[in-house]
Amino acid sequence: MSALLSVKNLSKEFGGVHAVEDLSFEVEKGRIHSIIGPNGAGKTTLFNLITGLYQPSAGSVHLNGRSLAGHKPHELAPLGMCRTFQNLQICMNMSALENVMLGGELQVSRWLGISMGKKRKQLRQAALQMLESVGLDHAADKYPHELSGGMQQRLALAQALIKRPRILLLDEPFGALDPGIRADMHKLVLSLWKEQNLTVFMITHDITEGFYLGTRLWVFDKPRLDPQAPNAYGAKVTYDLPVGDCASGTLSNINQNVGETSRALNNIL
Ligand SMILES: Nc1ncnc2c1ncn2[C@@H]1O[C@H](COP(=O)(O)OP(=O)(O)O)[C@@H](O)[C@H]1O
Ligand SMILES: [Mg+2]
Repeated sequence: MSALLSVKNLSKEFGGVHAVEDLSFEVEKGRIHSIIGPNGAGKTTLFNLITGLYQPSAGSVHLNGRSLAGHKPHELAPLGMCRTFQNLQICMNMSALENVMLGGELQVSRWLGISMGKKRKQLRQAALQMLESVGLDHAADKYPHELSGGMQQRLALAQALIKRPRILLLDEPFGALDPGIRADMHKLVLSLWKEQNLTVFMITHDITEGFYLGTRLWVFDKPRLDPQAPNAYGAKVTYDLPVGDCASGTLSNINQNVGETSRALNNIL
């Protein structure tokens, strides 16, 4: 089976700062890749490269065998690639419903951002359904400042999901949430993953979360480090671990895995 996403010899340098260096991987459909690594390792840069926000200094990204070279981010959503950002990108002067509709509008018409008549009705209906699936139907008319952190995260997720992604990239999505809401969000992501047959990349700083939600866990780090010139070399995937129990996993076997591997990872992070 050919890979859904294929990255070959990918590098990104910003004026002497090597963020990503010679990174290659292939990802099959239906996986959840949790990505952990130190701050500044280049995790967000990898997402920016995959989603067309940055052009690579070298190397290539292929989606279903098709090169993404030169594609802009708005051209990738119709191909099935959607993301949420480390800093949420929701419009504060729009209601939750309008924010989700905007996600759908931009998908249909980047220039106008407005759909009319029957199309708008359909979009509104789809946005309401999406809000329901993330448990925000009761908050459709609320503005972001009226929503808690967890609700804002769910709103950002609904905004990405209305684009019907095949690949969803989540950049530290639950970092600011307290443990109860975090657990609810984990359940939500797993159910959406199963229902919509998604492939997910999730950057997290929480190793347990990485194990719990991932089918694989990637450690993103610099294999070479010159203390005199810390930006001389970039990061890549230094460990690729099958953790894989999120579909049927119980917390006990997950915790066992976490125990063993986090001891190994303590030296790295
Ligand atoms: N647009 C940019 N311009 C210059 N340097 C950047 C830019 N984006 C990222 N970097 C640099 O690339 C490195 C990796 O950053 P980033 O991908 O944000 O790390 P992470 O998400 O792992 O914390 C950092 O040294 C950062 O300063
Ligand atoms: Mg980051």
